[in-house]
Amino acid sequence: MKDNSVYQMLAQGLPCDQAKRLFHGRGGLFDGWQQVNIEIYPPVLWVIIYQQIDEQPLLALLEQLKASAATLAIEHIYIQRRFQAANPVQVFMGDESMLETDFKVSEAGLNYWVNLGKNQNSGLFLDMSAGRAWVREHSEGKSVLNLFSYTCSLGLAAAAGSARTVMNVDMAKAAIKRGQRNLALNDLGGRSVSFIAQDIFKMVKKINQRGPFDLLIADPPSFQSRAFDVRRDYQKLLEKFKPALAADATLVLCLNSPALGVDFMHGLVAKVLPEAAFVERLANPSVLADADENASLKVLIYKVGVKK
Ligand SMILES: C[S@@+](CC[C@H](N)C(=O)[O-])C[C@H]1O[C@@H](n2cnc3c(N)ncnc32)[C@H](O)[C@@H]1O
Repeated sequence: MKDNSVYQMLAQGLPCDQAKRLFHGRGGLFDGWQQVNIEIYPPVLWVIIYQQIDEQPLLALLEQLKASAATLAIEHIYIQRRFQAANPVQVFMGDESMLETDFKVSEAGLNYWVNLGKNQNSGLFLDMSAGRAWVREHSEGKSVLNLFSYTCSLGLAAAAGSARTVMNVDMAKAAIKRGQRNLALNDLGGRSVSFIAQDIFKMVKKINQRGPFDLLIADPPSFQSRAFDVRRDYQKLLEKFKPALAADATLVLCLNSPALGVDFMHGLVAKVLPEAAFVERLANPSVLADADENASLKVLIYKVGVKK
C-alpha cells in the first residue's frame, strides 16, 4: 500500500468529532506501516509507533496532515514511541496543552475521560467500539458482570443500554476511579452500577454471591505477569465464575492474543460450559481489517443453556 493511500484513509476519516481509530497498521495490510496505529481523540491526532522503524514516510505523512490541519480539525499531533522506555511522547504539531491532562471525548453518544501520555493507554480502547455497541444493544433489563473492566467502558455501554444492574471489576484502582468518573459524566440517572477494585480471583465468592448474572463480559489482557495469562487463566476464569451465571446467560468473551484463534476459546467453552452454544463473533470495524482475521481482536458471544 502506498503512503499516499494511508493519507487518503486518514483524510477520509477527518474531520471527526468522535474518538476513533483511523489507521490500523498493526493489522499488517500496509507494507512498512505494521508498527503504526493512528487515532483521533478530537482535537488530538494520536500516533503510536510500536517498534523502531524508518520514520521518514510517517513523518512526511504527518507533515501533509499538518498542512491541512485546519480543514481536518486537528489541533495537536502527538507521537508516542512504545519501543522506548516509559513511552515518551513527542509533540509534532500544536502544543503540550492536551498532554498528560484529562479531557473528554465521545463515542456513539457516550462520553469518556481520556488522558494521553500519562499512561501507556489513553483510558479508552478504541478497538473495542463494536463490543461496546453490541453490549449496549443487548443489556436491557439484564444484570451484567463486567470483568477486567479497566475504565468501565463496557459497563457504561451496558448502563446506557438500560441494564438492570452492572458490576465492574478491575484490580487497577485508578482505572476503577476513572470508571466512576465516566459514569458521572453521562446522564445515566439512577442506574444501579457498582465498582470493585480488586483482583477478580480474590473476589470469586463475593462476586458469585451477587449473581446470577444474565450477561458476563470478560476482556482480559493477553498477558499481565502474575495477574492474568490467557493460556493459563482463561479456563480458570470460566470455572470460577460459572456458578454466577443465570441459566440462560450470555457470555461476551474477548481474546486479544494474535497467537490464539477462535478455536482456543471454543475449546475452553466446550470443556467448562458444554451446554453453551457459540452465537457469533462480532465483526470488527472495517478500519481494523487484518491480514489474518484469526489474529485480530476476537469478541465472541456464547449462550448458556441452549445445547441439551
Ligand atoms: C484489556 S484491559 C480491559 C479493557 C476494558 N474491558 C475496556 O472496555 O476498556 C485489561 C484490564 O484487566 C485488568 N486485570 C488484569 N488482571 C486482572 C485480574 N486478575 N483481576 C482484575 N483485573 C485484572 C487490568 O488492570 C486492565 O485494566
